[in-house]
Amino acid sequence: MDVRYALLLCAAVPLAAAEPPVDFGRDVRPILSDRCFSCHGPDEAKRQAGMRLDLEDGAKKARGAHIPVVPGNPAASEVIKRVSAEKPAMRMPPPYSDRKPLSEKEVATLRAWIQQGAKWQSHWSFTPPVRPELPVVRNRSWVRNPIDNFVLARLEREHLTPSPDTARAQKTAGPPWAALQRDASPCYCSALESDVFSLLKRQGENHKSVSSFPLPPKECTDGPAPQID
Ligand code: HEC
Repeated sequence: MDVRYALLLCAAVPLAAAEPPVDFGRDVRPILSDRCFSCHGPDEAKRQAGMRLDLEDGAKKARGAHIPVVPGNPAASEVIKRVSAEKPAMRMPPPYSDRKPLSEKEVATLRAWIQQGAKWQSHWSFTPPVRPELPVVRNRSWVRNPIDNFVLARLEREHLTPSPDTARAQKTAGPPWAALQRDASPCYCSALESDVFSLLKRQGENHKSVSSFPLPPKECTDGPAPQID
């Protein structure tokens, strides 16, 4: 291979790989909406320079010698020049405004978004929901409904195994008292608990829970002793 091409490839590949995909709704709109829309948004009375950045049309339309957003070309995009301008008179949001300047990370997000084609999405509340593809999972027997696919796919990505299902585990291998909790009547439980607590009391335990132990329900103390089988 021509050495110049090899060098070019080496330079280009890490750049492309390092750039995570930017999502307009999640990553870009919040920046524009917080820092720009007060002067370049829907409020006509407050709009500056007659420019709207809340609409795709407004952001991508040529304005005299420049275009705010040029898909695929951050260097040519006036928005990038303005948010990273050194000169205060050029910088956006203007230094005199009550809007914070963009951090380096935020500028990088806008730059990456434009580089990746400046895709626009309307606000999620106006976007009809689309049923996503179910992620493929390894442990298919664990899945009982479609949502489980998403949960399990994420766990598998993180190399985690789901914790055992409590309801199922209690029926099979739970601790010995799990069966009691499931099957015994409230009277039986109360009787058992009063026995345990009076035993503790007799042994001189003065734990808070011992003295505050509630009495068994009335029908239990008055009626016949609960059956313990
Ligand atoms: C407080 C109001 C205010 C805020 C907030 C603000 N701008 Fe501006 N913007 C202006 C004014 C005023 C002008 C016109 C003067 C100038 O060009 O500097 C302008 C002009 C611009 C222009 C040039 C428009 C043209 O065609 O001449 C761009 C691009 C721009 N702003 C981008 C942004 C971006 C991106 C943000 C958010 C990061 C932002 N602005 C936030 C007030 C604001």
